[in-house]
Amino acid sequence: MSDKREQFSSKFGFLLAAVGSAVGLGNFWGFPTQAASNGGGAFVLAYLLLAFLLAYPALMAELVIGRHARANVVTALEGVGKTALSRQLGKAVGIYGVLTASLILSFYTIVSGWMVAHFGQSLAQAVHWHSAAHWLIHESLLRNLLVAFIFMGLTIWIVARGVQAGIEAWSTRLMPLLVAILLCLIAYVLLQPGAMEGLRTYLVPDFRQLSDPALLLSAMGQAFFSLSLGVGTMLIYGSYLSKQESLPRLGAAVTLLDTGIAFTAGLLIIPAMYVAQHHGVTIYAEDGSLVAGPRLIFQVLPSLFDSMGAAGIALSLAFFALMSIAALTSSISMLEAPVSVMIERTRLQRPGAAAAIGTTIFAMSALIIFNMNALFGVIVSLTTEYSQPLLGIALCVYVGWVMHRNQVLKELQAGHRGVEHSLFWKVWPFYVRIICPLLILLAFGQSLRG
Ligand code: TRP
Repeated sequence: MSDKREQFSSKFGFLLAAVGSAVGLGNFWGFPTQAASNGGGAFVLAYLLLAFLLAYPALMAELVIGRHARANVVTALEGVGKTALSRQLGKAVGIYGVLTASLILSFYTIVSGWMVAHFGQSLAQAVHWHSAAHWLIHESLLRNLLVAFIFMGLTIWIVARGVQAGIEAWSTRLMPLLVAILLCLIAYVLLQPGAMEGLRTYLVPDFRQLSDPALLLSAMGQAFFSLSLGVGTMLIYGSYLSKQESLPRLGAAVTLLDTGIAFTAGLLIIPAMYVAQHHGVTIYAEDGSLVAGPRLIFQVLPSLFDSMGAAGIALSLAFFALMSIAALTSSISMLEAPVSVMIERTRLQRPGAAAAIGTTIFAMSALIIFNMNALFGVIVSLTTEYSQPLLGIALCVYVGWVMHRNQVLKELQAGHRGVEHSLFWKVWPFYVRIICPLLILLAFGQSLRG
């Protein structure tokens, strides 16, 4: 298996794929609105701290296990164990991880479908096909099913093509495009009236809010979601990385780029909201907080675009292209987690596995679409608030307590000579062993009580 196993062609391929996984809807709507409504610059600061002090060490745990085992999350965690019990437990954790990844993908597909729908609406408007434009942005079961189906189809198609020809090729095409669109949109929006007030709300820190444990908790959840942690996506990407590359450096680069893009996304979204307010759009909810989530993305921003005439259509096209691209490079990483398990543990080939698992997950999305009120929120909180932190703890425990210290060091030394003398090696092993699990547990306990 080992010499036929696929790999990223270079560290840049890995970097763009991993950043593509990390940068997604979490960066563009989770982060900016949380920042604006939770103390502005103070939240940004707390988030940056948590991302580097907590999420980065956990990301490193996944990368180390993945590249050490050169296998999917189930096989990797099973292989790390030295006793029958720890092997069985590892296998169970791995299965729980890929089930979580699949469930996250099932709701992510629905939301991403809406992005595709709004992109299609702008296209239809541009060619004056008004009936299609109208249909695409109005809630209906058929619309929701169709756009989710299209989005899942794209995801399956890319994953079926493989690590280099699919995941890496599309990440390297789409991620530079994403950054370019993002920067153009920011330049345009910041020149509009009202934008500076938004910038102030986003960046001027209100440190009083930092003492609120709920704020730190949501910053932690946000960081875990944004770095795609716990469910084996980063682990499997790490397993496709050459032994000649330095894990601590690449992990730091991924964290830095993900947080950097989240921060930059805030420079677009929050000022855009205040520009919308300038155009007469309501941006505060009844309770005085800033509008967030679906209402922000699918009502506030579209009404802004509507009020801007032809420029609005171009802006809307660019904005929803940006969102769809961000979503797609994330969804392929989620699908890769279960697909890699299937192809490495059964005789199924990649295209068949991608189609079978993708279709099953789409069936789950359809089930959620038919029972939106009952299922959507439950699945989001079950996976992101409960499963992800628990899995994060398990992965830290596997690297910190089950893997041998020498095994870990050897893996880190591959591609990073002298790592044993670095600050990283002085701090990180203790960190994943003790601090990370405790902190996550603490935050988790808090969230259960709250
Ligand atoms: N990180 C992505 C975002 O910010 C979503 C994502 C991709 C993800 N893979 C994941 C979230 C695995 C949790 C687990 O939108």
